[in-house]
Amino acid sequence: MTDLVARQNQVIAPLFAFETDETVVASEGSWLVTTTGRRILDFTCGIAVSNLGHQPEHVKRAIIDQVNQVWHSGSTFRYDSLVRWAENLKEITPDGIESFFPMNSGAEAVEGAMKLARKTSGRQGIITFRGGFHGRTMGSVSYTTSKARYRQGYHPLVGSVFVSPYPWPFRWKMDQEAASARALEELDYTLKHVVTPGEVAAFLVEPMQGEGGYYPGGNTFLQGLRDRADEHGILLAFDEVQTGFGRTGKWFTSQIYDIRPDILIMGKGIANGLPLSAFGAAKELMDSWPMGSHGTTYGGNPISCAASAATIEALQDVVPQVPKLSDHAFDRWNELKGEFRTVGDVRGLGLMIGVELVGDDGHTPNPDAYTAIGKYALDHDLMILPCGPDTNIIRFIPPLNVSTNELDKGIDILADGLAAYEA
Ligand SMILES: Cc1ncc(COP(=O)(O)O)c(C=O)c1O
Repeated sequence: MTDLVARQNQVIAPLFAFETDETVVASEGSWLVTTTGRRILDFTCGIAVSNLGHQPEHVKRAIIDQVNQVWHSGSTFRYDSLVRWAENLKEITPDGIESFFPMNSGAEAVEGAMKLARKTSGRQGIITFRGGFHGRTMGSVSYTTSKARYRQGYHPLVGSVFVSPYPWPFRWKMDQEAASARALEELDYTLKHVVTPGEVAAFLVEPMQGEGGYYPGGNTFLQGLRDRADEHGILLAFDEVQTGFGRTGKWFTSQIYDIRPDILIMGKGIANGLPLSAFGAAKELMDSWPMGSHGTTYGGNPISCAASAATIEALQDVVPQVPKLSDHAFDRWNELKGEFRTVGDVRGLGLMIGVELVGDDGHTPNPDAYTAIGKYALDHDLMILPCGPDTNIIRFIPPLNVSTNELDKGIDILADGLAAYEA
């Protein structure tokens, strides 16, 4: 145990847990440098946040310039970076998302978005989807069903939340279309026999499930939600906290499927690591939210807004390159799927790829394989993260501006890890 870890253990709550005891003293691009001089390839992006890698120059410059101007307002005086940020954001968000509320974390943005839906619709029901992750505050954890332990011991949670299945083709042993049909059938049952549509304020859904197992929602399922939302006057809220800002190959996943959300929830990659999140909606909907119904002290912090405005600018050249890198990564992973029986499924969009590790039957989740391969990777200077309810899925999320060499290096290490595990 290092001295820092020993000191931390005395003063920081243990469940504020870390992936590794390595302490980082420098970072650049896809790389971390530790106190012991190790150079580690960072394919975690701080849980899908630093899409531009570490220390991107344009963002760093914007942060320093803003620090030299002013760094906190707390909704007292006005400042330019807030408006510049929102104007930049409006350029890239799906059509109809035109007015924004800035917050600090993904969970907070989810909370705010659901308050907007409830207050403006006068309805209280929220339908969420099994395996969804929306955060851990009391409100957001009430919508989260990716792991029971996030909720255990905290009941009663926020009421009038109804959970319907999300299409999981691999787990259900069926193709995407059959899984979508099944999920929509279950949703129709919920709307008929569990809660009437007129009581439902919003569908809250990740267009590609993140923490729950990297399942793309697919066009049929998401269009099915859009159709039912239109039919019943329900707001369709897309939680793109993890999938946004180019991660899945376009600015937002809703643009891949060409399905318009009424509320868009954002966080993580929004400011490449500075604390900022937001939700957006049509101006008319946002304008109808009564004054004083919601607020924040730190949301829209001037430095975070400056960082986000610059992140969006820097991503303009990067996002169009994601599909090419994605094709390369998928080609390599699909080859490895043929080579290693432990790889049961490779799925995802853009550079948000889930590699599901399974047992000898080709289907049972294999968390031990993840533990072994994650350790092998770290021992060989690559840091990765898992996802999925059984913690058996490699969450393959390199920076979006990773070089092809770095991408291959990361995959080579994981391939060697798979070979070592199967040997
Ligand atoms: C889809 C999604 N929504 C919400 C959250 C919560 O974000 P935060 O941890 O910033 O509160 C996350 C975090 O992983 C997420 O992936």
